[in-house]
Amino acid sequence: MAKYKIAWLPGDGIGVDVMEAAKIVLDRLALDAEYIHGDIGWTFWCKEGDALPQRTIALIGKVDAALFGAITSKPARAAQDELSAELKKKGGFSYRSPIVRMRQSFDLYVCLRPCKAYPGNPLNYKEGIDLVVFRENTEDLYAGVEFSPVPAELIATLNNLAKTNFAPFSKIPGDKFAISCKINTWASSERIVRRAFEFARKFHRKKVTIVHKANVVRATDGMFLDIAKEVAKEFKDIPMDDANIDAMTMWLLKNPFNYDILVAPNLYGDIISDLCAQMVGGLGFGCSGNIGDKRAVFEPTHGSAPKYAGMYKVNSIATILAAKMMLDWLGEKDKADSVERAVAKVIKDGKVRTYDMGGSNTTLEMGKAVAACLQ
Ligand code: NAI
Ligand code: MG
Repeated sequence: MAKYKIAWLPGDGIGVDVMEAAKIVLDRLALDAEYIHGDIGWTFWCKEGDALPQRTIALIGKVDAALFGAITSKPARAAQDELSAELKKKGGFSYRSPIVRMRQSFDLYVCLRPCKAYPGNPLNYKEGIDLVVFRENTEDLYAGVEFSPVPAELIATLNNLAKTNFAPFSKIPGDKFAISCKINTWASSERIVRRAFEFARKFHRKKVTIVHKANVVRATDGMFLDIAKEVAKEFKDIPMDDANIDAMTMWLLKNPFNYDILVAPNLYGDIISDLCAQMVGGLGFGCSGNIGDKRAVFEPTHGSAPKYAGMYKVNSIATILAAKMMLDWLGEKDKADSVERAVAKVIKDGKVRTYDMGGSNTTLEMGKAVAACLQ
């Protein structure tokens, strides 16, 4: 029996292309693993009314780790047209992001996104950038508590309770506005901040920055900031500061070297991690780990880029680096380091480059080049 069982979730679009390239690298490493395919994504919503079928949830629940490519998400309303005739007869289904569901189902509360400028990457915003984003991964605006149309009872409650100048609730019909709840708990905010500080201590990082909008979004982000300050008291050896999300985007571009570890609630973490990915070469380089206490799912930060689907054109480095994160998590540090060194060498040599790097090599050629540099 293989040492590890790994759920293999290519999804759709370029998810399929980049996962094939990552497999070339893992195969060359001779990781003692069994890779088990799992269904996820749009096709399964159309066929079965579920983009994350129960069998895939069961699979993720019994493996050591999972590697996921990307999926295409569609707006729920437009989506109904593409359901199979049989499911249409059953009256349609709501669509919820399978990725968000996967993160919530397994309590994968840390979204860890390292963004490192590998030397020689022509796309680096500046050489030497090395940022790590800790994004809360289970709640905030992604909690999935949304109303459209807004039910009359909720309008009545808001009219009674909301003490704000903006209270159009009684004047606007329920189908003419929508509500998405930003829900943050003390416990989830505390654990993501704690993981960020622990990481900073373990890897001798210079600072933790809390990203928020506490001056305006006072209840939720105010609480997040308060908690962060509490946690920071236990980590007096690690400097901490904080910044509003809007200012943060500006400061990051102005002086990325002032920052090191960034920790944020879900939405701001999502935004800031795309920005950080762009500073180290773009989405083709952004890797991501969805990590809980027992389980983890690794993926590139990018989506399914439908216009490039099946063309084997996009950069597979993001997914190869996600596989590297998975190896680290499994405790295969030597193999993980070897993958990172190989990626760094391919980037530095500059002989194999996908379109985003100004080259014409394919997704799989990038995978083969990294595999060839493994030592
Ligand atoms: P996207 O990340 O799929 O692509 C945006 C653009 O970034 C692409 O057109 C391409 O120019 C570039 N890009 C992305 N990956 C690249 C790579 N590996 N190499 C080189 N260039 C790359 O974002 P988009 O177009 O906004 O979303 C497409 C679909 O993916 C949507 O349905 C979206 O909801 C979904 N999505 C899925 C995610 C996931 O599966 N984790 C995450 C983000 C979006
Ligand atoms: Mg994103």
